[in-house]
Amino acid sequence: MKVLVIGPGGREHAIVRSLLADPNVSEVHAAPGNAGIGKLVPTHNIDGNDPDAVAALATKLTVDLVVVGPEAPLAAGVSDAVRAAGIPVFGPSKAAAQLEASKAFAKQVMAEAGVPTAMARVASTAEEAADALDTFGAPYVVKDDGLAAGKGVVVTNNRDEALAHAQTCFDAGGSVVIEEFLDGPEVSVFVLCDGRNTVALSPAQDFKRIFDNDEGPNTGGMGAYTPLEWAPEGLVQEVIDRVAQPTVNEMAHRGTPFVGVLFVGLALTSRGTRVIEFNVRFGDPETQAVLARLKTPLGSLLLAAAKGELDKAEELRWSKDTAVAVVVASENYPDTPRTGDRIRGLKKVDELEGVHVIHAGTKLDEEGKVVSAGGRVLAVVALGTDLVEARERAYDGVELVQLEGGQFRTDIGRKAARGEIKVANTTGSATGSLPVTKTKA
Ligand code: AMP
Ligand code: GLY
Repeated sequence: MKVLVIGPGGREHAIVRSLLADPNVSEVHAAPGNAGIGKLVPTHNIDGNDPDAVAALATKLTVDLVVVGPEAPLAAGVSDAVRAAGIPVFGPSKAAAQLEASKAFAKQVMAEAGVPTAMARVASTAEEAADALDTFGAPYVVKDDGLAAGKGVVVTNNRDEALAHAQTCFDAGGSVVIEEFLDGPEVSVFVLCDGRNTVALSPAQDFKRIFDNDEGPNTGGMGAYTPLEWAPEGLVQEVIDRVAQPTVNEMAHRGTPFVGVLFVGLALTSRGTRVIEFNVRFGDPETQAVLARLKTPLGSLLLAAAKGELDKAEELRWSKDTAVAVVVASENYPDTPRTGDRIRGLKKVDELEGVHVIHAGTKLDEEGKVVSAGGRVLAVVALGTDLVEARERAYDGVELVQLEGGQFRTDIGRKAARGEIKVANTTGSATGSLPVTKTKA
């Protein structure tokens, strides 16, 4: 089978790498890709957010499957255009992508489907915002309603700061969702969906803040590891039963079936499991770690999802190893990142046992040298027999990367490796305390 992967980042590099390991995949193309992807497969310089351009390229290449990586092309309707051209696509329609593109929409669907999530209110004026903030109290959680690459959320004890963020969103013509604060560790679960059926991948943990100990502003994600030894038994089943399947059923019921990855961002709170957010695509950098452990051929799996045949797909097989991904970001990320700097040492990283480099914001300069081209530049991904070994290997790799001004967190997976993550509610089944208003038959 021939596959076209849409997107420029680390997630797409990881997807391409896994597709190439699938014996059923004969050819992979990418658009637009990055320097790392370009080393593996032909890349095509089109606007990946342009539905017609993507459909035309997929048709020209006569691919059997298109995999859409990021949220922007999904929200722009790229999947719809490819599907209309008669080509199977892994990625939701524009209508179904609203689960990520609008937090207010996601909240409505969760309410309809009886999915446990934070209590929330939508606000479009300063008065409404102030009222909602005072309803829930501190810590305050204010979310830009639209797409913001993980950077539209402010969590703060400072009421003025919370109000100021809301005002910034209003000034830009948007609205905000204000929520109750959820305590407890966060987990990312990727659920493959074919419109009807759901298959969950192994849970991962992401590190959203730029600095160690979860300090500084939110980013797209600075590192990840998987699996989660500390997660309650039954968590994945709970996510399927209480979150993913009801959501997929609700989307089908609405006439906008969900095909692709439902990325369930959870908080394991003292009152039970709660959804923090939905995304409609694989997480970045969690995917770099999760796919490093997946043994099931990826292309066949994604094609089955695209064709509505996940019920016929083989059961997932996983490596026993633990995977860690540590992101190297450019100077000044997540603010305006510095770009155009040479990146050295990558070959040496790839030579380390169990370690590989996944490119994100990289490109080749005129001399064909790899330079930085974005905020998150690359991830060093390592497999080890346990989290301690995987971390050691990943950080040995990071030490070899030379990038002026480059920044990385030193504590990816550290708490878990030290056994310091505590889940207050370890029932594994969210009973008793759900703010569920309605369940569908
Ligand atoms: P989101 O874009 O909704 O994933 O939010 C980004 C990050 O903000 C999450 O990963 C959490 O760390 C934090 N966050 C979002 N919503 C809440 C909440 N209700 N309570 C606590 N933290 C939150
Ligand atoms: N790492 C979180 C995300 O992809 O949104």
